[in-house]
Amino acid sequence: MLWFAAACAPAWAQFPDITLKPPYVPTPQVTVDEMLRLAEVTDRDVVMDLGSGDGRLAITAAVKFGARGIGIELDDTLLIQSEENARQAGVADRVTFLEQDLFRADLSRATVITMYLLPAVNMKLRPALLALRPGTRIVSHDFDLGDWRADRRTTIRKNTFLWIVPAKVAGRWRARLPLPPIERLLELDLVQRYQELSATARLNGVPAQVWEAKLSGERLSFVVVDTTDRDNHTSLYFTGRVTGDAIEGEVTRGVGATRATVRFSARRLGS
Ligand SMILES: C[S@@+](CC[C@H](N)C(=O)[O-])C[C@H]1O[C@@H](n2cnc3c(N)ncnc32)[C@H](O)[C@@H]1O
Repeated sequence: MLWFAAACAPAWAQFPDITLKPPYVPTPQVTVDEMLRLAEVTDRDVVMDLGSGDGRLAITAAVKFGARGIGIELDDTLLIQSEENARQAGVADRVTFLEQDLFRADLSRATVITMYLLPAVNMKLRPALLALRPGTRIVSHDFDLGDWRADRRTTIRKNTFLWIVPAKVAGRWRARLPLPPIERLLELDLVQRYQELSATARLNGVPAQVWEAKLSGERLSFVVVDTTDRDNHTSLYFTGRVTGDAIEGEVTRGVGATRATVRFSARRLGS
């Protein structure tokens, strides 16, 4: 994807790939709005802009979405300007600007991270971004995160990318499914690359294909076809929330009037 980023990069970004010091270039307001819309920012969010320039991302998050904003910036003049801009916008009590190196900032307070940096900076930040709490949203203007594919992207004059930090789900999981007339034992093996999964399963010891395996933050969903009744194969639709070595969720057997839903808990046996 780097060739793509380079091809679409503005003139100032054609060569500084080799540097880790993005110059100040403000994001146009239409793109600021789109980044925050794409991240589905609400008044429960803390939006942290890494390299916050004149503060427009953090200020817009507060003014238009009721969020709290944090800007991380090294340039004194831009920090003073950001504070003045926040005061004029009437959100000085909801936004904070910190004179800090973005590589040393504590990112853990953020529910949403916004960035308009450089490809090399994004890549250097990537391990820290991947380690954030599952469900944290990351939005980038213009530059991607290499082979960590965006969950969504839009192009409205400029490219914007959204990633949702995935829970760590790789390993072998086991769950007992109280589905009448007999309990079923599900063994699920998950191989993970970022948010992308490949999965295999056994249902009561019988190998079963796993379909539509999806991970969004801590939300996991997949489908297994139950062949226990040879004359009536039926899909089992799983949805659950992953917390550490546990998945709590629901499995629905069948569709429409014939469907039945029960709760299930899965435990990770090892990774
Ligand atoms: C391309 S501008 C983006 C400004 C703002 N986020 C926006 O989108 O309008 C990048 C900003 O990152 C700041 N910056 C560069 N290196 C930084 C670092 N290591 N720590 C904090 N800020 C940095 C620059 O001063 C500049 O304001």
